[in-house]
Amino acid sequence: MSLLIDNIGELVTNGAGPGLLGVIPDAAVVVEGDRIAWIGARGGAPAADTRLDAGGAAVLPGFVDSHAHLVFAGDRAAEFGARMAGEPYTGGGIRTTVGATRAASDDELRHTAGRLVAEARRQGTTTVEIKSGYGLTVADEARSLRIARELTEETTFLGAHTVPAEYADDPWRYVGLVCGPMLAAARPYAKWIDVFCERGAFDEDQTRTILAAGQAAGLGLRLHGNQLGPGPGVRLAVETGAASVDHCTHLTDADIDALASPRFDCMCARGSETTTVATLLPGAEFSTRSPYPDARRLLDAGITVALATDCNPGSSYTSSMPFCIALAVREMRMTQAEAVWAATAGGARALRRDDIGVLAVGARADLTVLDAPSHLHLAYRPGVPLIRTVVQGGVLS
Ligand code: NIG
Ligand code: FE
Repeated sequence: MSLLIDNIGELVTNGAGPGLLGVIPDAAVVVEGDRIAWIGARGGAPAADTRLDAGGAAVLPGFVDSHAHLVFAGDRAAEFGARMAGEPYTGGGIRTTVGATRAASDDELRHTAGRLVAEARRQGTTTVEIKSGYGLTVADEARSLRIARELTEETTFLGAHTVPAEYADDPWRYVGLVCGPMLAAARPYAKWIDVFCERGAFDEDQTRTILAAGQAAGLGLRLHGNQLGPGPGVRLAVETGAASVDHCTHLTDADIDALASPRFDCMCARGSETTTVATLLPGAEFSTRSPYPDARRLLDAGITVALATDCNPGSSYTSSMPFCIALAVREMRMTQAEAVWAATAGGARALRRDDIGVLAVGARADLTVLDAPSHLHLAYRPGVPLIRTVVQGGVLS
């Protein structure tokens, strides 16, 4: 089946080079099966089985949300309320969600995760990464990833999210569990491994040990780093050739230098891409009332920046990439073009994918038609449902 999307007022392709939107006015796109088959001027497209009139609206690549924790039970609305009344965020609430998740049935977890993926899709997200990390037993991590794998191919083993209460007096024993039986059980369902490298979670030595075990098992590397304070996360991510280091809220000059310097020595990259992307998660700063990361410092140093939701029941219970774009522009001084690129092509790079986050012949047919004439409206009209139509893998929804 082929689909012609005609009468596009503004087509954002991300095809003009790193960080550049590549906007084509008055365009049309033809989708054949799950791929883009043709891009060109409005009115000049080859015939197709069906036609969608964009009515002069903007068309963008679907959002790539490269960081989300969607397999969990319960919510932590009371914890959010306490924070809004002045309590700090420490990450301690993760254990609350671990308790609820362990007690939930497979179907309950599947229902919540599926609901959130559908909610994200309605807001223009066509690829979402999903982490485990609220099970923290061998069986609960494996089933979290099994459920995540039903929803996305971008699945991440986050057994090292926090040290569960039953191991509190011997964290290294828990690290041994993560690197041994838990990794073995997670491996069939996971593409990536992640560690919450932070004071109060996993320290430098523990993080190195877990990443090395994941890499030896064939998983790609990602890291939560420098969220709550300065620390070794960014440096470790670059040293180990991680695809992405996420949060990046508290960075030193050395962290910026490490992310900015090109890497030629990495043996672990998937494809030709070897840089470590800095993934910013402004929903977390919004929901924890924390200072936002300094996006300008990263961008001005030439570092590849992605935006993601960090959707989880504790620190950022939003599935909305448009909301994150609006925050990035208003609070982090990203330009509208930088924010849209980071939420599409940036996310794709954080997942080391070149078939998504871009509209080009041969790329996956993942795109959104906005209820607006320009990508500028995403930040200009915050909180407004601007996603009119989503095409995912060539399928209209
Ligand atoms: O990315 N920082 C660690 N993990 C999540 C928070 C999880 C939670 O609070 O439940 C995050 O913000
Ligand atoms: Fe996270």
